[in-house]
Amino acid sequence: MEWSDKHLMTFAKRYPVALVRGEGVRVWDSDGKEYLDFTGGIAVTALGHSHPRVVGTMREQAATLLHVSNYFHIPQQIHLAKLLCDHSFADRVFFSNSGAEANETAIKLARKWAKEHGASDRGDIITMRGGFHGRTLATVTATAQEKYHHGFEPLPGGFKYVAFNDLRAVERAIDSRTAAVMVEPIQGEGGVNVPDDGYLPGLRKLCDEAGILLVLDEIQTGMGRTGKLWCYEHAGVTPDIMTLAKALANGVPIGATLATDEVAQVLTPGTHGTTFGGNPLATAVGLTVFSTLVEDRLPERAARMGRILIDRMRAAQQKSQGMITEVRGRGLLIGMDLVPPVGNVVSACRERGLLVLTAGDNAMRLAPPLIVDEAAIDRAATIVEAALADCRGAAA
Ligand SMILES: Cc1ncc(COP(=O)(O)O)c(C=O)c1O
Repeated sequence: MEWSDKHLMTFAKRYPVALVRGEGVRVWDSDGKEYLDFTGGIAVTALGHSHPRVVGTMREQAATLLHVSNYFHIPQQIHLAKLLCDHSFADRVFFSNSGAEANETAIKLARKWAKEHGASDRGDIITMRGGFHGRTLATVTATAQEKYHHGFEPLPGGFKYVAFNDLRAVERAIDSRTAAVMVEPIQGEGGVNVPDDGYLPGLRKLCDEAGILLVLDEIQTGMGRTGKLWCYEHAGVTPDIMTLAKALANGVPIGATLATDEVAQVLTPGTHGTTFGGNPLATAVGLTVFSTLVEDRLPERAARMGRILIDRMRAAQQKSQGMITEVRGRGLLIGMDLVPPVGNVVSACRERGLLVLTAGDNAMRLAPPLIVDEAAIDRAATIVEAALADCRGAAA
């Protein structure tokens, strides 16, 4: 930890814990202490830690062929693309290495499509306040939260911000320069903000009327997290472009930008590229992870376990003497507004053996693996209640 302080760039406030091993929903630190992992590595480890099929694929693929360039056909990449298309609205996929890169590709696709289908000055992307789309310069600018921009100016142009869950604001913002509306179906980092049922259908309609694209960032909500394979299924509409990352390869870095044929055709040889994206290792693991999600019906399980988790957290709210003011979410993505500083509650949970995330201004976020069971949820709820009591005691 001393070397960490000395040699790593300080981009995150790290907890005084080094995690060294994981199995299922549990992880262990370097002192051998066990934790329940309700962070899932920030909504990544959908199949839990050390899943035997993931471990097997990694071993086998690493020993066979780890990397080749995209100048060659990569069978695992082709199979994963076909599987994603078979299970979504999309016709074509571009693989990259992270969520930010998947969103960069979406922004480039939307702008190129808009220019080829309208005036040459069409390129603006409308994004939502409180959203989160990544840390590269374009995606951090797409992220309509000034706290992430500070010091990094000048930011790239071509982004317009409107309030989340406000269709009229989007309607007012659309003009002849607009290329696309880009939105998370549920805002994750921004506080697990669930919009009204009519929001996504309303956005779809506005985009269709204006002849612009709807880009859904399902990097956090996709792959079954909200109780359906894709969060857009709850709304009964489909996007033109969707971005994925996080859980797609259960922790092996991967990003994916999915699109309809009509949109995807704007990419021609030489217009975009990647060295690592879609390499045999990442896509072999993605193939195993996605097949397992589908075969083991993990979205349905997330819906079932999510109902239990939200009930337990609402029961904790009842007992919290006002320390939890709201519990919301869908499937296994749950947010809880707190009165005590969320950092204190997160620390108290960790002391008692439960790892949780923060979100928004003062919310706690739970995103356990989709394989979580009722016993783990019960234990987590008991720890949250005890941690709140610790914070109440400390404040008294
Ligand atoms: C909705 C959403 N989009 C994009 C990103 C950025 O992904 P990455 O950190 O892999 O670049 C995140 C990460 O938290 C996210 O939650």
